[in-house]
Amino acid sequence: MALKLSRLSDATGVEARGVDLSQPLDVDTKSRLNQAFVDHSVLVIREQTLSATQLRDGVKNFGEIFPQHNTRFSLPDCPEIHYLSNNDRYPDGTRYIPGAGYHTDHSNSETPPKATLLLAIELPDSGGDTQYVNMVAAYDALPDSTKERLQGLKAMHVYQSKHSARKLMGLTDEAKERIPDAVYHPIVRTHPESGRKSIYINPIRIDGIDGMQEAEALELLNKLLVHATQEKFQYRHKWRAGDLVMWDNRCLLHKANGDYDHETQTRYLYRVMLQGDRPV
Ligand code: SIN
Repeated sequence: MALKLSRLSDATGVEARGVDLSQPLDVDTKSRLNQAFVDHSVLVIREQTLSATQLRDGVKNFGEIFPQHNTRFSLPDCPEIHYLSNNDRYPDGTRYIPGAGYHTDHSNSETPPKATLLLAIELPDSGGDTQYVNMVAAYDALPDSTKERLQGLKAMHVYQSKHSARKLMGLTDEAKERIPDAVYHPIVRTHPESGRKSIYINPIRIDGIDGMQEAEALELLNKLLVHATQEKFQYRHKWRAGDLVMWDNRCLLHKANGDYDHETQTRYLYRVMLQGDRPV
């Protein structure tokens, strides 16, 4: 099999065919896939039939596994791999739909994961797309005056922002001990591999901006979100059976769409993340 790469949209995304992650990759294929990921931020590897352990081993071609915060979604037989499902419920019995609302993963970590990977195991007949926003393009398109205003600003990231419309599943006591209460990251970060600047915000995790009044901070963050999520900066991924999607949390926002029948349809994916650097 020979690797074939094709772009998925003007905004972001590249499709890879001719790869089987259950087998060792040759040096050239591994290097081209890693470069495609840095260049296009969303790497969609089609037609992967992988067990959880094959996924765990296969993702090591791209980096080290990052321990996810909420261990309640960990697979008992392969704890490094978690799952996403619309069949879990909050303690009050209401259904939990993971991934709704734009965000970047685990930004409340000192060194947030560079990438998240999802492998489609069971998909609804239609709907359940994942939308991605290219935050480099969004940054580039800001007026110079806004770029100057953002320079040096840091946001406070927590597990669950008090301003977030989306409520996350509670952490276990063990996880509460393990993860920091709050971390500060720059609102404009520079990608450690491409060297490009992007807007780094997270509506579900940011509680405020260091040294700024709450109302002013919320207005600025909201303006940035509205600007960034314009359609011209987006790629919308329509899942196919066997898709393995790896995205770059350093320079994208993403969200899952819950627009399918939660009672009769199942959306179930394996999830794993890769270690990243401290944002600068
Ligand atoms: C996530 O937010 O990590 C999940 C996105 C999705 O389910 O498509």
